[in-house]
Amino acid sequence: MAAANRAPVTVTVTGAGGQIGYALLFRIASGQLLGADTPVRLSLLEIPQGLRAAEGTALELIDGAFPLLDSVDVTDDASAAFDGTNVALLVGARPRGAGMERADLLEANAAIFGPQGRAINEGAASDVRVLVVGNPANTNALIASSHAPDIPAERFTAMTRLDHNRAVAQLALEVDAPVTAVDGVIVWGNHSASQYPDVSHATVDGRAATELVSERWLEEVFVPKVARRGAEIIEVRGASSAASAASAAIDHVHDWVHGTGERWTSAGVSTSGVNAAAAAGYGVPEGLVCSLPVRSVDGEWIVVPGLEERADSRAHIAASVAELVEEREAVRALGLLPG
Ligand code: NAD
Ligand code: LMR
Repeated sequence: MAAANRAPVTVTVTGAGGQIGYALLFRIASGQLLGADTPVRLSLLEIPQGLRAAEGTALELIDGAFPLLDSVDVTDDASAAFDGTNVALLVGARPRGAGMERADLLEANAAIFGPQGRAINEGAASDVRVLVVGNPANTNALIASSHAPDIPAERFTAMTRLDHNRAVAQLALEVDAPVTAVDGVIVWGNHSASQYPDVSHATVDGRAATELVSERWLEEVFVPKVARRGAEIIEVRGASSAASAASAAIDHVHDWVHGTGERWTSAGVSTSGVNAAAAAGYGVPEGLVCSLPVRSVDGEWIVVPGLEERADSRAHIAASVAELVEEREAVRALGLLPG
């Protein structure tokens, strides 16, 4: 299938038969995840009930005749799916329905991520990068990482890029500027309603965003709009966000692999290891996966250190971090964290 001038990169997608899987896989096959010179070998993981849908998607991937697509395999065996994987997108989990909070998914979904972390630990390539999309994404990433002791914690990340993109888009809409004019937005904390989308360092065409929008709009409209956008989509669309989530996953991995340059973005990253000191500077303790301002440098997410925070930002960040600690203790009590 592939016109390869490089060795193919193995990309594993879990939940491949679901909504996000369907929006994601064709973009990966077309080269938008890893670049136009990188062939991909797709490995799709599903549970038995989802296999037929994933197999149907695999047939359509073949029909796309994508020059970069080396092969597509579908399995319900995690060891096979993660064997030799370079990029693992852990999407497979139940989405919330109308009226549910993400915390309601904790027990239902968290049990998926220990075994998958273990399978990644046992079989993945030494350069593996993991992005957890399935909710509650931050805590699921922590669980997966805790079951993969041989892989540095910083290789396990959680997706808050969708929140970041939502924040950029809402600010651009408010000031009637293109999204490309917006820089320096940060999403702090958990991928949940407690997150803190922060424009205190943001600029629009080089001008401070805080000079362009009112304090009242920020507190009463912007922050709740971004933090509750997932629920709004569920209410209006009748199903949880899918194409925008897939797009954010592409952005996250693309930036991780190719670098961000001087601009930062937001990602849920481990607060242990290389980023512990920078996270502690924002009052975030070790042992969490927390959304922070990050640059991708030489293939690693590095937390941007030492940004000055206003007292109210500190309080917002602390509230979301407290929720992450609570989630960690809840999954520990369920026996889902080793040790
Ligand atoms: P979906 O129900 O359409 O698809 C999920 C798929 O995962 C299903 O096909 C299911 O069979 C499969 N699955 C379940 N358990 C699995 C397992 N153990 N291994 C492999 N596959 C498994 O859901 P969706 O809309 O694609 O959403 C997937 C997840 O992504 C949900 O948890 C949702 O809340 C989350 N999500 C996160 C973000 C984010 O920004 N982090 C954004 C949108 C959605
Ligand atoms: C989102 O933010 O759209 C997803 O995490 C889905 C949800 O449950 O909010």
